[in-house]
Formats: sequence, C-alpha cells, structure tokens
Amino acid sequence: MKQVLITGASSGIGEELALLLAEHGYELILTARRDHLLRELAVKCEEMGALRADVLAGDIEDVARSPKWSDFLKGEGEIVLVNNAGVAEFGDFATSSIKDNDLQLAKNLFGPIAMTRAILPLMLASGSGLVVNVLSVAARTVFPGSAIYAASKAGLLQFGNVVREEYRKQGIRVTNVMPGATDTPLWGADAEVGPPRDKMLRSKAVAEAIVGVIGLSSDRVVEEMVITPPDGAL
Ligand SMILES: NC(=O)c1ccc[n+]([C@@H]2O[C@H](COP(=O)([O-])OP(=O)(O)OC[C@H]3O[C@@H](n4cnc5c(N)ncnc54)[C@H](OP(=O)(O)O)[C@@H]3O)[C@@H](O)[C@H]2O)c1
Repeated sequence: MKQVLITGASSGIGEELALLLAEHGYELILTARRDHLLRELAVKCEEMGALRADVLAGDIEDVARSPKWSDFLKGEGEIVLVNNAGVAEFGDFATSSIKDNDLQLAKNLFGPIAMTRAILPLMLASGSGLVVNVLSVAARTVFPGSAIYAASKAGLLQFGNVVREEYRKQGIRVTNVMPGATDTPLWGADAEVGPPRDKMLRSKAVAEAIVGVIGLSSDRVVEEMVITPPDGAL
C-alpha cells in the first residue's frame, strides 16, 4: 500500500484527505505544527483502517530538514508527498510588510520546495513517486489583494512542472491541484471575511479529487487538476 506523507494534515483539506485515505487503508505520515491535533487524527485514522498513521510535528521548513524521513518512509509502497500546508494572507500589497511577505512565501513556497528536496531522493532510490502540490486557482486567476499568495502558488506551480519534466523518466509523477475557494479554517472564524462560505467547495470535495489521483496506477500522469465551486471564482 502507498505511503502518503501529508503536510498541513491538522485541519481543512489535509485533515479530510487523511481521513479518506485511512478508509482506503493507506499508510499515512501526518505533519503540521499542532502536535495534539495530529496525534488525535492519527488515532482516528488507524481506527478507520489506515495501515499506520505516524506523526512528525513542526514548522514545515524544520520538518523538511528532519533526518528521520528514511525511517518514516521505510514501507514497501510507493511514496506519495502531498504538499498541502499553506496559509492565505490577503491585503493591500503597498502597505504589507516585507516580514509578512517573507513568512507567507516561506510557508507556501519554500516549505513545499524543501519538502520535495527532502523526499525526492527517497522516491528516486525506489524508482517511483508521486508529488501532489495543493496550489490554488490564484496560481493563474488574478484576485486583487492576493499578490504574495498568488506569487507563492504560481511559483510552486512552475516548480512542480519543472520537477515533473526533470524526473519523469525516473518514475516521478507530479500533479498540480488548483482548488477554488474551499470552506476551511484558512478563512478564519469571521464568516463575513471572504466569499460566502455556503458557495465554497467543501474540503471533502477537494480531498476526494486528490484521493482519486493518489489511487491511480503509475502508468498515467495527471499533470494538473482545477476544481471549482459550481459558481466558479467567488
Ligand atoms: N481554503 C481555500 O479556499 C483554499 C483554496 C485553494 C487552495 N487552498 C490551499 O489548500 C491548502 C490547505 O489549506 P486549507 O484550506 O485546508 O487551510 P487550513 O485548514 O488552514 O489548513 C492549513 C494547514 O497548513 C498547516 N500549516 C500552516 N502553516 C504551517 C507551517 N508554518 N508549518 C507547517 N504547517 C503549517 C496548518 O497546520 P498547523 O497550523 O497545525 O501548522 C494546517 O494543517 C493550502 O495550501 C491552501 O493554500 C485553500
């Protein structure tokens, strides 16, 4: 059974994905900063059928530097990395701070790049692997107020495209997933902020689409997937 490493597994799309994969009996490795949430989720996943659910908590850039990956990914199955962790900080660019810009880029772009750098050698050594990057429609569609978020997602989109072409003949597949607005804690507790929640995608809908990609055999590559709410860009 495939070994699926999910970043940002403590809430929203990542949590939903872990639960769905657990039902299918996958081996799971869950990461995010909130250790207690990951541990509760891991117990639930194992109860639901996951072959195992291991936890490695920490900030994404620290986690990427962990020397433990070959221990965590020691199973027989193909390694799947889901680069899902991310934040969305919207607002006026001219008055934004360089520090906040850098922090958002660190979480959304440098973190996933560092994770891919950490896991790719293990995939190459085993002769196959799948990287799923959870981007956003903002990687292509222009939403004023999202300059840094869009830059991070568009950067990761092209990073994924290059990695796919560089390593595809060595068995590496890369899928860039671009969801539209999805009702998750990313939008914060104030329901007045952002588009109407009831018009958004459910996190389960996005997770189901990712489960579909992970379940495919290695004789095909889904390079890109755009998932939008019925009403389109909100
Ligand atoms: N919701 C949407 O409308 C939407 C639309 C398109 C794309 N996306 C993308 O979907 C992905 C998942 O977001 P979501 O909507 O499910 O939001 P969410 O519920 O807020 O989940 C974000 C996850 O990222 C983790 N995370 C944040 N900063 C981190 C850091 N520095 N180090 C490690 N983990 C970190 C969080 O865990 P901890 O806080 O425990 O670290 C959490 O598990 C993101 O990449 C987002 O850009 C979301």
